[in-house]
Amino acid sequence: MSLPDLIHRPRRLRKNPTIRNMVRETSLSPSDFIYPVFVDETITEAVPVASMPGVFRIPLSDVGSITKKTASLGISGIILFGIPAKKDAVGSGGWDANGIVQKAIQEAKKASPESYVIADTCFCEYTDHGHCGVLDGHEVDNDATLANLQKEAISYAKAGIDMIAPSGMMDGMIAAIRTGLDSAGFKDLPIMSYAVKYASAYFGPFRDAADSTPSFGDRASYQMDPANSREAMREAMLDVEEGADILMVKPGLAYMDIIRTVKDATDLPMAVYNVSGEYAMVKAAAEKGWIDEKRVVLETMLSFKRAGADLILSYHALDVARWLNDA
Ligand code: PBG
Ligand code: ZN
Repeated sequence: MSLPDLIHRPRRLRKNPTIRNMVRETSLSPSDFIYPVFVDETITEAVPVASMPGVFRIPLSDVGSITKKTASLGISGIILFGIPAKKDAVGSGGWDANGIVQKAIQEAKKASPESYVIADTCFCEYTDHGHCGVLDGHEVDNDATLANLQKEAISYAKAGIDMIAPSGMMDGMIAAIRTGLDSAGFKDLPIMSYAVKYASAYFGPFRDAADSTPSFGDRASYQMDPANSREAMREAMLDVEEGADILMVKPGLAYMDIIRTVKDATDLPMAVYNVSGEYAMVKAAAEKGWIDEKRVVLETMLSFKRAGADLILSYHALDVARWLNDA
């Protein structure tokens, strides 16, 4: 039997590394990355996070050395999470001028002025009940929380933050923070919205790291239902209208379709948060010798970019930058 005369042979462009490099559509650079940093007011030495091998809660005194390290690796910046010594019902530590994040911002900018410093802007680490805002009975009171978000964002701005990243999924949070920042004279301070954030089981290890597990219930009345993608568009478009500068999808791996959908529908830069549970799964399998950690991580990061992400928030950022720089 005769074989068909093939016109199309995609293998022609896979023949060797040179041609594969020439036609590669997507690439990774250390500057694509933002490294999450947990600063704990109650410690004087770094404490490992059990469910996230290689990740630590650090004391204020280590913030400078971390930002120097990320800067020397070419990583664009860090996102700060604070663990305060004292919590209360409303999370007032979030807008304390001497709060742990406010101090960490100053330390980071002092040590490495060129590093971009972002503040996760929420209340779950600051409230004694672990929810992302003020409670009214067992519900999070949306509008009372907006007023506090304005105070928190302005307080971070006064401490010298480069970007505000609200993560609490409150309705109107971008408009409220924009109005607050503008009226306080911070018209040029950008907002990266956790625009499309799902009520995800993948946040488990983070809540150990940040001590932010809700003491009752869950976050399903403010974070999104994993079943929904049309609602993701609605959340994204509202944040565009309210003045967000960058949109984020979170988590990453299980939501690649959402990254692409939002990317195609908007013209804002897109970020993805490769969350704690995604990191923990890779680390656990790698420790068992079941996967090649470096190859799996680089493939995943490349796939985030292919899906439409411009920026990647990841606990793997230091390793990825080292691997890219050594290549
Ligand atoms: C706080 C916040 C969370 C994460 C980022 N900001 C946890 C949550 O919503 O419970 C999760 C990050 C991760 O899992 O790595 N609102
Ligand atoms: Zn929160």
